[in-house]
Amino acid sequence: MVRHFLDVTDVTDEELNKLIDWGIEIKKNPEKYSSAMKDKTLLMIFAKPSLRTRLSFEVGMTQMGGHGIYYDISTSPMGKKESIPDTARTAERYCDIVMARLFEHKDIVEYAENSKIPVINALTNYSHPCQIVCDLQIIKEKKGKLNGLKLAYLGDSNNNVTHSLMHGCSKVGMNISVGCPEGEEYSPQKKVVEETEKIAEKNNCKVEIVHNSKEAVKDADVVYTDSWMSYHIDPAKKEERINKLMPFQVNSELMKFAKPDAIFMNCLPALRGYEQTAEVIDGPQSIVFDQAENRLHAQKAIMLFLLGKIK
Ligand code: CP
Ligand code: NVA
Repeated sequence: MVRHFLDVTDVTDEELNKLIDWGIEIKKNPEKYSSAMKDKTLLMIFAKPSLRTRLSFEVGMTQMGGHGIYYDISTSPMGKKESIPDTARTAERYCDIVMARLFEHKDIVEYAENSKIPVINALTNYSHPCQIVCDLQIIKEKKGKLNGLKLAYLGDSNNNVTHSLMHGCSKVGMNISVGCPEGEEYSPQKKVVEETEKIAEKNNCKVEIVHNSKEAVKDADVVYTDSWMSYHIDPAKKEERINKLMPFQVNSELMKFAKPDAIFMNCLPALRGYEQTAEVIDGPQSIVFDQAENRLHAQKAIMLFLLGKIK
């Protein structure tokens, strides 16, 4: 049966740990995989902008001897003159694997339901699973383990990256503390909180949502933040959101509440002076560009896994 990767929960805990270790191995020995995707084509559908996702997937295919097709949705009939199922049933006749960055999560689910080739979620409004495999890989590389660590996520938490981090951390036994303003608009979806609390209980770790930034960051090994203005947020909301989210900005004062050897992460793109200060993102604890690099290695592992080329 075809495997898709629409959410971190599409893989078992064991598979997630394997993906992380494969990413580490592929990064060390890229030449071993230089023809692993020979004659394979990845279709890359984008409805939103991207730097990292677009480059890392396309370069990943090139480095493994395959090809990536960048397909800007504004030049596609999909969703306008052509249905999602018809697009999927056509693309599978040419391509071997698909990744899509769409707005609504239900659209990627519909695409996958109609696709005989693997579909990868390259970010929807709801989740960003590829990002989190890369993030867990870099945390494991920097800290030597995942189990038992504490990650503090600060800021906008009704957010794709937050949801996938909650799933990812609980699946690998990491504690996650989310610090965000009160209210539905800024908090993780209830469904994700309930799901991840169950996973965390099974894996002996904790998921907590708090509304105080210092409490969230206390003794954290990793401090993580994301944009306050995700691609799908109405630009007219900017001022209101800045006012609400500023108490959750990651700055040097806040970093003092984390462990002294804590690392700072942001999936990028980042705006200095908003979700974090320049001092933090450009400072010695920041690993954001090592983190960005791992998109390349982790996604190679995801694609090889879905095509059954690593087991
Ligand atoms: N982190 C991430 O997905 O970046 P892009 O939006 O540039 O792809
Ligand atoms: N939450 C951000 C992530 C960007 C990679 C967004 O959706 O824009």
